[in-house]
Amino acid sequence: MEARKRWWATRLAILLLVLASNVPAGLCDTNPQDVSALRSVMSQWTNYPSTWTSSGDPCDGSWDGIQCSNGRITVLMVSGVNLQGTLSDSVGQLSQLVSLDLSFNPHLSGPLPASIGSLAQLETLIVAGCSFNGGIPKELGNLLKLSFMALNSNNFTGTIPASFGLLSRLEWLDLANNQLTGSVPISTGTTPGLNMLTAAQHFHFNKNKLSGTLTGLFDSNMSLIHILFDSNQFSGPIPSEIGSINSLTVLRLDSNKLTGAVPNMTNLVKLNELNLANNQLTGSLPDLSSMSMLNVVDLSNNSFTSSVTPNWFTTLTSLIAVSISSGNLIGEVPKALFTLPQLQEVVLSKNLLSGKLDMSGNISQKLQSVDLDTNSITSADVTTDYKKALVLRNNPACGYESLLGGPFCSPKPQIVIPYRTSMDKCASANSCPSTQNQNPANCGCAYAYSGKMVFRAPFFKDLTDSDTFQQLETSLWTDLKLRSGAVGLSKVHFDSNGYIQVQVELFPSSGTSFNHSEVILLGSLLGRQYYKPPAKFGPYSFIADVYIPFSVPDAKKTKFSTGAIAGIAAGGGVLVIALIFVGLFALRQKRRNQELKVQANPFASWGTTQKDSGGAPQLKGTRFFSFEELQSCTDNFSDSYEIGAGGYGKVYKGTLVDGIRVAIKRAQSGSMQGAPEFKNEIELLSRVHHRNLVSLIGFCFEQREQMLVYEFVAGGTLRENLVVRGSYLDWKKRLRITLGSARGLAYLHELADPPIIHGDIKSTNILLDENLKAKVADFGLSKLMGDTEKGHVSTQVKGTLVTDHNHCYIFHLDRSAN
Ligand SMILES: *[C@@H]1O[C@H](CO)[C@@H](O)[C@H](O)[C@H]1NC(C)=O
Ligand SMILES: *[C@@H]1O[C@H](CO)[C@@H](O)[C@H](O)[C@H]1NC(C)=O
Ligand SMILES: *[C@@H]1O[C@H](CO)[C@@H](O)[C@H](O)[C@H]1NC(C)=O
Ligand SMILES: *[C@@H]1O[C@H](CO)[C@@H](O)[C@H](O)[C@H]1NC(C)=O
Ligand SMILES: *[C@@H]1O[C@H](CO)[C@@H](O)[C@H](O)[C@H]1NC(C)=O
Ligand SMILES: *[C@@H]1O[C@H](CO)[C@@H](O)[C@H](O)[C@H]1NC(C)=O
Repeated sequence: MEARKRWWATRLAILLLVLASNVPAGLCDTNPQDVSALRSVMSQWTNYPSTWTSSGDPCDGSWDGIQCSNGRITVLMVSGVNLQGTLSDSVGQLSQLVSLDLSFNPHLSGPLPASIGSLAQLETLIVAGCSFNGGIPKELGNLLKLSFMALNSNNFTGTIPASFGLLSRLEWLDLANNQLTGSVPISTGTTPGLNMLTAAQHFHFNKNKLSGTLTGLFDSNMSLIHILFDSNQFSGPIPSEIGSINSLTVLRLDSNKLTGAVPNMTNLVKLNELNLANNQLTGSLPDLSSMSMLNVVDLSNNSFTSSVTPNWFTTLTSLIAVSISSGNLIGEVPKALFTLPQLQEVVLSKNLLSGKLDMSGNISQKLQSVDLDTNSITSADVTTDYKKALVLRNNPACGYESLLGGPFCSPKPQIVIPYRTSMDKCASANSCPSTQNQNPANCGCAYAYSGKMVFRAPFFKDLTDSDTFQQLETSLWTDLKLRSGAVGLSKVHFDSNGYIQVQVELFPSSGTSFNHSEVILLGSLLGRQYYKPPAKFGPYSFIADVYIPFSVPDAKKTKFSTGAIAGIAAGGGVLVIALIFVGLFALRQKRRNQELKVQANPFASWGTTQKDSGGAPQLKGTRFFSFEELQSCTDNFSDSYEIGAGGYGKVYKGTLVDGIRVAIKRAQSGSMQGAPEFKNEIELLSRVHHRNLVSLIGFCFEQREQMLVYEFVAGGTLRENLVVRGSYLDWKKRLRITLGSARGLAYLHELADPPIIHGDIKSTNILLDENLKAKVADFGLSKLMGDTEKGHVSTQVKGTLVTDHNHCYIFHLDRSAN
């Protein structure tokens, strides 16, 4: 820990020194080739820092993000300034460039010029989070001094150039999140390959379309720490040499098409995370008993031979999460597993585990969830201390509907309210303009530098643990030299790849915004990985959002350089005065618009711009979902996930990362409610819980979306059941369905507070679960019964509308007829 801090401090000192080193301006004449190359690069960009003037000297010390040495440009760093345009070939003429960082400029597109390959001094190349496309130029293989290359989160296509094998000093290679295809090049007698990269510590190739086998890629003389190959199409066996790279701490090969047996990994004693899930691996489960530092292991969804639970289940005391779903496990779940002191999550669903589940006695205090869905467990003994999730449904222990009611047989979906930075200390509710955020350090409003931090192999599972996330906050403000407390975390969630995503907001120490040089520094600290989060977060990537003060509301603004404006001013004072008036008017209009927006949308701050506020709804056990989360669990709301549609919008099915199936009701633009109504509705729905009502799990209110997330009821609507398998529904079953629906409605009418009239009961609004239990749906948009009316229910409520004459007569409830 201390060593890490020292290392960190040295790096920061060096960086600050480098940033300051060009101050003695004018001592050197900038090389004319560099000046003309830079001008030519600038000519294809708009929105570069305003300190870059059309006539000045780039090495005079005033240009943000540019550093020189002896009149030569050595550093070009323009991270996160919202550059627009393409990268000119001329960049290749900046022949003394050591560091090129263009990261987090999402409007920077086009191909990466091959001429970068002539920058023989280059040590750092970062273009993460831009929109570069086309192939990765093979000429990058000429950069023999390169040690850090991050091309992740762009739109690169084509293959990984074999010439990368020549980058003998490369330590960091991040190609994640592109659309790369083909196999990973491996050296032959005549061509180089990535197996030659013995200095490399990081191979981050996740989320591409890479294929082919991995044979020959690994060797014991490599220094890899992180191998992230997940979500590709690799096939063939896991090469046995991987087991000899004993520096490895994270190995993710999940979601590929790997086959064969898992090789001997006895020597990987430093491994913290092993994820081999979602492949076609065979043979016996690997023996992990030597991995004494193993925190997270996932071997789910392979084709391992049938076995009892492995010995290491009870001996690896560092285990935090174990998943072997669909692992052909038989026998009993060992009681000792639950006593492992760090254990948070166990997923052993879809196996043939049998006998009695013994979770009595002393179980891990940290245990959050145990999923044993679909096994052959016959009984359970669970200590009364354990109040967290345990899923036993689809086990003989749960039997048929008659036995339901066992607490773990039809568990309520577990409600997780993930961590977010508290704003409790701010006395007044957040009333910042919509583009600003409330700074947790002083409750003031400012333009936050924000972005998405993605932890690709976190060593923990509990998203609610404030200690963990407060450690992250503290390390961010300390290491990034911000004011204490000036960090906000929100939207913490697992995405569909099992990565933890966190929205991070960093606030300026003074004033309301960062200036260009500060933004460039932050981008470099995060993009170049100088900043290291606490160890349990594992490897991360960071992609900044467009920084609002640098965005270009009207494209024309950037057409005038500072110099040009000076020229105009000199030419005509009248024009200047006119411009000032126009400016003031525009400013007033903008303020007025913002005020109007705030009035129309009292909790705008709370959903759309990730701010906590007093305006947040009062929720009972309902969680907030980010748009991305719902987007990813419905494959971007693809048609194949659609399960219904109506005037309100469409309904999609989806599976949350924790495996819970949900139905997502997405309002279409015409049928959105006002924010107060939406808030009201979720507050109301979150209070209604009954076994015959479809319950609300959460909601999404951001990016101009209103979505309600309900529990998924697997049996379909009553109408479908009557149509498709009407004869199966004998009168006894129909009666049970009727009674169930009636109980649900009675609860709404009589016990819900305030009472709710459904108003639209019909066979498509009654859903059936696997056991034919009726669950009434769609009471969301119902009317509330005012208190005064409650006493006169018999006259006010004539009954629910019967709109479905074919099938629904049996549900016509008419209170006044009672
Ligand atoms: C990549 O290209 C696709 C379309 O080809 C586009 O939808 C997507 O936004 C692009 N991604 C980036 C990061 O530019
Ligand atoms: C790594 O080891 C392999 C054989 O084990 C050898 O062929 C190769 O030359 C070694 N590479 C380096 C850079 O030492
Ligand atoms: C795995 O390798 C270790 C040492 O390299 C060896 O002791 C052990 O017997 C091997 N295990 C198997 C199952 O081959
Ligand atoms: C295993 O496969 C199932 C079905 O394809 C999927 O829902 C589940 O998420 C997978 N499990 C893991 C751990 O990826
Ligand atoms: C339960 O475990 C804790 C920590 O492992 C230990 O301190 C405590 O004494 C144990 N209690 C019993 C009853 O064994
Ligand atoms: C940007 O901010 C830094 C630190 O707050 C300050 O030293 C620097 O002078 C500012 N740059 C400009 C161009 O205002």
